[in-house]
Amino acid sequence: MQENTHIEVVSPVRSFRGSVRLPGDKSISHRYAMLAGLAKGTSKLANFSTGADPHSSLKCMEQLGATVRDEGGAVSVTGVGGTFAQPAGDLDCGNSGSTMRMLAGLVAPHAGTFRFVGDASLTKRPMERIRGPLQQMGARIDLTEGHAPMTVHGGPLQAIRFETPIASAQVKTAVLFAGLQANGLTELKESVRTRDHSEHALRAFGAELERDAEGVRIAGGQTLQAIEATVPGDLSSAAFFLCAALLFPESQLVLDDLGMNPSRSALLDVLVSMGLRLQVLNLEEKHGELIGTVQANGSADLKGAEISGSLSAQLIDELPVLAAVAPYTRTGVTIRDAKELRVKESDRIALVVRNLRNMGAEVEELEDGMIVPGGQTLHGGVIDSGDDHRIAMAFSIAALRASSDTAIHGAEAAAISFPEFFPLLRQLGAQ
Ligand code: S3P
Repeated sequence: MQENTHIEVVSPVRSFRGSVRLPGDKSISHRYAMLAGLAKGTSKLANFSTGADPHSSLKCMEQLGATVRDEGGAVSVTGVGGTFAQPAGDLDCGNSGSTMRMLAGLVAPHAGTFRFVGDASLTKRPMERIRGPLQQMGARIDLTEGHAPMTVHGGPLQAIRFETPIASAQVKTAVLFAGLQANGLTELKESVRTRDHSEHALRAFGAELERDAEGVRIAGGQTLQAIEATVPGDLSSAAFFLCAALLFPESQLVLDDLGMNPSRSALLDVLVSMGLRLQVLNLEEKHGELIGTVQANGSADLKGAEISGSLSAQLIDELPVLAAVAPYTRTGVTIRDAKELRVKESDRIALVVRNLRNMGAEVEELEDGMIVPGGQTLHGGVIDSGDDHRIAMAFSIAALRASSDTAIHGAEAAAISFPEFFPLLRQLGAQ
């Protein structure tokens, strides 16, 4: 357990009710920040994520020569118009793997030396996965035993044909961002179709790319133009509150302007199969992203779920909260093929298992997932977030139906993606 961290005490509630508009999606905010920083002109990005991670991306873009202004409710980014400046110091990505991996691809075609650093957690995360394709394109990248600190020695790049060995939208994005500025046509194949925000964002900023069942192709030498956009509400943040709603038959939750991109929305199908009553209203498309209002009601019969194969990759960020509420389901939740969870902001398999046990749950740890039996009663416990935002938030949701109070240690980690989480949790949880 870490010392000197913030502790939030979460008490049990009887239902979860209210209506909110969530801050902008973390994944889309990163991409808009980076592409706006490279583009010509000033982009206005309303409902930009309030999380620390996308703000790490904004700070890096400033160091690369972009001008960033907080205009209250929107962020404006004046891009460099195609050529990044040599940064005066290290590019500090904080806790953000997305910043480090995707930005490496964006800067690699630029002449200069770019040194990327991050916090203790990010410094342990694998970076070899982006070094492979970027070196194939002609960049030189120095890693420290496979991790950050990472130095990208940039320069003119050649297009490649690349088949992603792991299901990772960050790796795909690094290759597409480099391909956009390389010589020739970059072709990328993915075995599992990962989130496609980069493809939509590139098109929004004026780039042309082709996508079919085989993969994505992007021609090099393209330039980007600034956009005006509103970032859709973050579905991965919504996942916590939707799981809270699922726990109580009387719940009624309305989430406005929520991102519902089909490459992310497998979560909604799983929650419906578990018993969530869900209605989607006012669906519309903006810059290729689907946005809608979601109305969710809980269920008296909470069913279990089996998550494996490509579904595990599509739900990767939501697996901790699904596992945390699993003991309350009738038949439990099994997660397999999710080894990537071990190299996220923490080893999320080990930490979820340990924290479930701290609340009195029975759970079996697997190398690539876990088996959480259903029909269990949890007591309040002491939770270690491991400085991981999704662990802090997942167990705050499990705490809502425990028999006594739960202390979430390291609760400040929630601010990485969702600083409003605890105030909203108190507002929506009803005694
Ligand atoms: C993300 C992709 C996923 C996800 C992360 C955000 C993105 O990571 O876990 O939170 O925005 O592309 P991987 O690409 O490592 O799977």
